[in-house]
Order: sequence, then C-alpha cells, then structure tokens
Amino acid sequence: MSTIKPLKGSLQKITADVVACLVFEDKQHLKRQRSELSRLLGPSSAPLKTSVFSGKLQQTLVLYPGTWKSHFLILVGAGPAAKFSVEALRRCASTAAKQARTLQARSFALAEPDPDIVSTTPIGTDEHLWERIGSGVAEGLLLGLYTYDRYITAKDTAERKLKKLFIATTSAARLRAIQRGVHTGTVVSEAACVARDLGNAPGNEIYPATLAHRARKIGRDHGIRVSVFEKKKIKALGMGGLIGVSQGSAKPPRFIVMEINRGSKRGTVVLVGKGVTFDSGGISIKPSAGMAEMKMDMSGAAVVLATMQAAAQLRIPIHIVGLVPATENLPAGTALKPGDILRHYNGKTSEVDNTDAEGRLILADALGYADRFNPDLVIDLATLTGACVVALGHVACGMLGNDESMMTKMKEAGDRSYERPWQLPLFDEYEKLIKSDVADVKNVGGRWAGAITAAFFLKKFIGDYRWIHLDIAGPAIMEEPTDYTPRGASGFGVRLLVDFLQSWRTS
Ligand code: BES
Ligand code: MN
Ligand code: ZN
Repeated sequence: MSTIKPLKGSLQKITADVVACLVFEDKQHLKRQRSELSRLLGPSSAPLKTSVFSGKLQQTLVLYPGTWKSHFLILVGAGPAAKFSVEALRRCASTAAKQARTLQARSFALAEPDPDIVSTTPIGTDEHLWERIGSGVAEGLLLGLYTYDRYITAKDTAERKLKKLFIATTSAARLRAIQRGVHTGTVVSEAACVARDLGNAPGNEIYPATLAHRARKIGRDHGIRVSVFEKKKIKALGMGGLIGVSQGSAKPPRFIVMEINRGSKRGTVVLVGKGVTFDSGGISIKPSAGMAEMKMDMSGAAVVLATMQAAAQLRIPIHIVGLVPATENLPAGTALKPGDILRHYNGKTSEVDNTDAEGRLILADALGYADRFNPDLVIDLATLTGACVVALGHVACGMLGNDESMMTKMKEAGDRSYERPWQLPLFDEYEKLIKSDVADVKNVGGRWAGAITAAFFLKKFIGDYRWIHLDIAGPAIMEEPTDYTPRGASGFGVRLLVDFLQSWRTS
C-alpha cells in the first residue's frame, strides 16, 4: 500500500508527476480560483476558459502546467461550498488519484482545500477540522486506489506504480493537524483494505482454518491476544449451531477469540462477526447464479479482524474482544437438514427450517459466549439477510438493538464515517413469526420482514447486555463500484466501528 506524506509548500513548487487541486462550483469562488490559476499557469490555463469545467462535484479537467515541476495539473470539482463535507473531500481525493493513476503517475500531490472557502462551508470550524480533512483525504486516496489483483498474472504495471502520495498545505499549523489526521485515516483505510482483501479472497484461499491463521498473523503483528478453538473444543463448549452448520463441510470449523485491553475501566466492547467463508445454502441450496458472491459471507468476520488491527494501532483505550464463528455452509450426506434441532451455547434450542439461514445459527453461539466477558456492549456484524439488501440496497446497513442511546451513537459514527446504519424496528408483533412447535425458536420467519425476524432470532441468544446488530449484507458486497469503493468486498463497517470505538464513553 502507498504511504501518504503531508508537505508544506504550494502546488506549483512540489515535485510530483501529477498535482491536483479542488475547485468550488460557486460563481464567486470559481471566478477567483480561475484568475488565480491563470496567474500561476499563464498560457497553460487557456483550456479553463473554453472548457465546460464548472467545479461540479468530481468533475475533472487536466491541464499541462508547462513551467511547473509536474507534468499534469488536475482540477477536481468540489461542488458548491454550501454542500461541502468530509465525504465530498473523500470523493474528490479518490477521483483525482484514480485520474493520476491513469496518467501513469508515480507520485501524486493533492493541495488542501482553500482554507478561506472551507471556513464558509458546513464542514465545521472545530479545533479538529484540519485533522478531519487529513483523514478524509487519506481515506479517499487509499480506499479509492485499492484494487484486488492478487490472482491476476498479467498486471498493468504502469498503473501499479503510483506509490508516493502527498497532501500539500501552506501552513505549518495545518500541516501538524493534517499529519495527525493522515495517520488515523491511513490506519483505518489500511484496515478496511485488509477486510476487502479477506472478502475478495476466494473460498479456496479463505476457509475457517486460514481465516484463523490470518487472525493469528494480525495478532502477532499488532500485539493482540488470539486464541482459536478447534472442533473438539467447540463441541465441548456446546456450540451446537457452529457444529451443525459446519457438519456438511470437509473443512472443520473454528471459533476465533481476539482480545486487546488498554483499559477495561473504560468499558468492555465485544465485536462478533459472521464468518461463513462460503455459503451455498446447504441442503436448502441457493440458485447457482450469483452464488460465487457468497465467498464474501465472512464480511462480518473480516470487519472484526480488521477493526481489532486498527484499534490496536490507534491504541484505543478500552477492552475490546473480537469473536468469530467460522464455517462453510455446504450440502453433503452429513449436512444439517431442514427439521433438525440444535442446542446452542446458552442452552436454548432452535429448529432448522431452512439450512440457508445459517448465519443466525452460528451467531447464536457467539452471542451466548460474549456474555462471559461481562460486556458493556456487544456489536454483531453479519451479511445476514437478502431481505436487508431489498430494504436498504447497498447504501446503508440495517441496525437493530436493545439500547436506543447506543444506537444513536452508532448513527453519529455513521454520519462521520459515511458508513451509515439505518435502524429497523423490533416491534413485538414480529417475534411470533419465528415461533417453533418443537424447539425454543425457528430459524426462519417466512416471507416478510426477513431482516427483523433474523434479528429477533439473535435476540433470543443475547445475554444481559446492551446489544447492536448490524446487517451489512447490502453495503459489504458491492455489485457496482461507487466513489471510492470498487466492485466486490467493500470493508464496510471498519471505519464505522473504529469511529464508534474512538468516541466510546461507558455511560
Ligand atoms: N448470507 C446470506 C444472506 C445474503 C444474501 C448476504 C445476499 C448477502 C447477499 C444468508 O445466509 C442467507 O442465505 N439468508 C437467507 C435467509 C432466508 C433463508 C430466511 C436469505 O436472505 O435469503
Ligand atoms: Mn445462507
Ligand atoms: Zn449466509
């Protein structure tokens, strides 16, 4: 991954193959920035007058600043000042960096947005403003430039050479703030890319044992305690859901426990991630079209591993535990069957009406196990239901839970990180949909409100703790690329959780 270096200096003096600056859409700003650019560029600024470039968000114009040290200057539209945001900045940084990459740049510098204009925008005027700008730019650059090409042997080498990234500022005070922001932004973006790599990796690379190896490696590299339970221990602990789902697979399950403790006085948060490394549906098999996507059914687990990494690097001062039940869901003579009844970690039983509703079966065990840590909050993340994708698309994840104030904080973290959760209701009436005649609960609730009945199933297995469930099936798996997220695994949830944990207060 590339590194980002904040630099002091003006853009025309910086030694980088390609430089870029933001141009706002508003008439008065556009006019001022145009005349400034024509002063700096001389005749090279001519296209500015004749082109249709108007500063619309993410619109670009490439100029050739003859007398500068750089070969190209990219103007990137920042949109109207009144709508400027950290998210707009992420998008601009990503757009400009990708453009620089197609121009075959090895080095790229983005200028800070004009401080005089920034101060008039809704981006905020607090003391952390330039820190947030630094992290926003870092996120846009690193997330935007991400590609998954591990298995492509004929790589486009020219495009892979963009390694040096700079942010230019003209003030020493802003430089220090931007530097701090770039550090955080780099840590969370690298973690998000770890989650993306895990999600994009095929099922023959990432299965329960190898997912556990990755957790161990992250633990070794970042000083995180990791234990991995194998099948015998999982069985002995009474995790009937994880054993049941795994029994159709030739690959045995794992249960991963990660732990960092930089202050349990400040509270304990347990993160639980669904780790289905491939979901065929099992005996209730899925249609073959699109089934390959289900290699990403461990996206919740990937978020947990990556968030633990970032939390360790940022030294977040709380006790954080990561739990991952990991298994494949495959059909076989030994597989779980519709009608089977399982006994979970907390002693409650479930009737398996559909083997494709497997995520909740393994999460039930992990949510029960979470109680051992006497947590102040448990957050689970899972690509749990297609119904949640139908409801919210790929834009937001579903959020359900038993504590409104915690969910409000999660929503605020979502607004800042732009990984936004949207709350769905846990109205009593939905609960009877998962009533079973033969067990404590049934694993499917019929056609309607699938994201909610899934959450109600999980609720049966939580301990006496505050709990937030995030159904990330939509935003974790992208069918189309968006601004700084390519198609495939997005790493959605890492930036949300890191932001949430950074602003964590116990009460
Ligand atoms: N992993 C899937 C949910 C999913 C679907 C994630 C699409 C991402 C994209 C989950 O295990 C599943 O199969 N859920 C079923 C539940 C149903 C059988 C009640 C579903 O959503 O169809
Ligand atoms: Mn399934
Ligand atoms: Zn699944």
